[in-house]
Amino acid sequence: MSYEVTAIKKRPQNFDQIVGQEFIVSALKNSVEQERIAHAYLFSGPRGVGKTSAARILAKALNCEQGLTTEPCGKCTSCIEIVEGRSFDVIEIDGASHTSVNDVREIRDEVLFAPTNFRYKVYIIDEVHMLSNSAFNALLKTIEEPPPHVVFIFATTEIHKVPATIRSRCQQFNFRLISLTDIKTKIQEVAKELNIRSDNESLVWIAKEATGSLRDAYTLFDQIISFSGNEIQISKIQEKLGIVGVEEISKLIRLLAEGNINQVLKVTDGILNKGISEEQFVIGLAEYFRNLLFIKHGITKESFLGCSFESFSKEIIDSFSIEQIEKALDLLLHLYRNFRFSLNQKFELELLLSRLGSLEKLITPSEILNTIQTLKQKLQTKTLKTVPEESETVQAANRSHIVVPQDILKNIIDTIGKKKLTLASSLKKCTLCKIVENDLMFFFQEKDAFSAEFVMGEKTILSQIASQITGNKMGIKVEILKENQTNASAADEEENIIKKVFKGTVIKGD
Ligand SMILES: Nc1ncnc2c1ncn2[C@@H]1O[C@H](COP(=O)(O)OP(=O)(O)OP(=O)(O)O)[C@@H](O)[C@H]1O
Ligand SMILES: [Mg+2]
Ligand SMILES: [Zn+2]
Repeated sequence: MSYEVTAIKKRPQNFDQIVGQEFIVSALKNSVEQERIAHAYLFSGPRGVGKTSAARILAKALNCEQGLTTEPCGKCTSCIEIVEGRSFDVIEIDGASHTSVNDVREIRDEVLFAPTNFRYKVYIIDEVHMLSNSAFNALLKTIEEPPPHVVFIFATTEIHKVPATIRSRCQQFNFRLISLTDIKTKIQEVAKELNIRSDNESLVWIAKEATGSLRDAYTLFDQIISFSGNEIQISKIQEKLGIVGVEEISKLIRLLAEGNINQVLKVTDGILNKGISEEQFVIGLAEYFRNLLFIKHGITKESFLGCSFESFSKEIIDSFSIEQIEKALDLLLHLYRNFRFSLNQKFELELLLSRLGSLEKLITPSEILNTIQTLKQKLQTKTLKTVPEESETVQAANRSHIVVPQDILKNIIDTIGKKKLTLASSLKKCTLCKIVENDLMFFFQEKDAFSAEFVMGEKTILSQIASQITGNKMGIKVEILKENQTNASAADEEENIIKKVFKGTVIKGD
């Protein structure tokens, strides 16, 4: 017998063999049972999830010689002819190569003839979104009121390209991606039938790589057995397909956590020299950090992680905070997006790894908040003693203020930049930022008055963001420093303001 690829060999032949589309299967079975057959169905969904298979099964259910049935026999002439694609009454048309209006006209003329042998004439039009506009228009009339013995089943991976006029005349079924667990079970089944041994990691890996498409999983499986023989091992897959293994990535991440960039770069070089591409490497790292994020949020199921939870050491999980993991993932995804414009992908990767090595220095918004609050407390306990000149300054004497350190200010501005870039670039011009009671005060030099004005105009949103970052309600004030103040050092400037506020002389505390 000639070799048949697994995807074809394993094509489901009746409704119950369709995996992961329970809702659709039960709806189709019901309509057959109740003999409520629509004249047009539209099956949409990702590639390789069972659309064409379901269409053929429905065609058999309609035309099986045993009568309209949810369990077509698969043995009668009708069933056999449909499976073999040589039935005159079940016509499969590839929408991708029959896109013209003439193709549709042919169908339109043909449907007028009653089925030759069976009850129904079924047209399965695959990739229907490829039809031209005029072809769609020609179809409209036919599917609106086809002769009673005609059923159309359209299938598409791109439902948004099917005109609404067509969609609204069809019963629609959206096929879903198939779960990792279901795919793994199917692959395991096939491996068993073929007497092929396989380790769990390999099965999970194949299921994960298939990203929800059972056909992709079968195709990958075929490729793997072609070099694995009777035993599938994850190490062999990694070697042959040029992917980085979880152990190698773990080793690298441990070095990153230790900040040992010297070794990180050397290990990376070794991995790349084995023929693994930079892209694969970044995908491997990104998957690892994505899984760490899931684990940090308490999700440890294999079906979510795409590998076993045991492959993550506690030591690594504990060495990163959620914010650090998010940052790492963000950097990796960003790098992947930019890869195709890169002058040298290896350099980019090395630069990124070097940056990931300083993850522990990353200041997170919650850390900024803590720092601000600690500074505030310090300021309240420290005595900035003043000698008031007049009693009217008593109120002012209660006012406390702190200068926001430059690095924290930069982080605040960066956070703002994620929401409002223009505001962030104006804020970058500010020379000094202070917290005075519940106000955030921004000081600008005269030459940057324009930026100051812009910031003023965005007071409301800025106040909202500042309140979010600090957790307290914050007002916003903007001031322009005069020429002589501009030249003064930050400390002098601070003193000037304190003098102004407290109307007195500063007797420095410690
Ligand atoms: N839900 C499923 N249940 C069982 N097998 C499936 C399923 N989906 C896909 N397969 C397997 O994948 C093969 C291809 O499936 P099918 O042709 O039905 O996919 P499709 O959704 O029509 O894909 P495409 O959009 O690429 O045409 C089948 O022969 C079968 O082996
Ligand atoms: Mg198909
Ligand atoms: Zn039959």
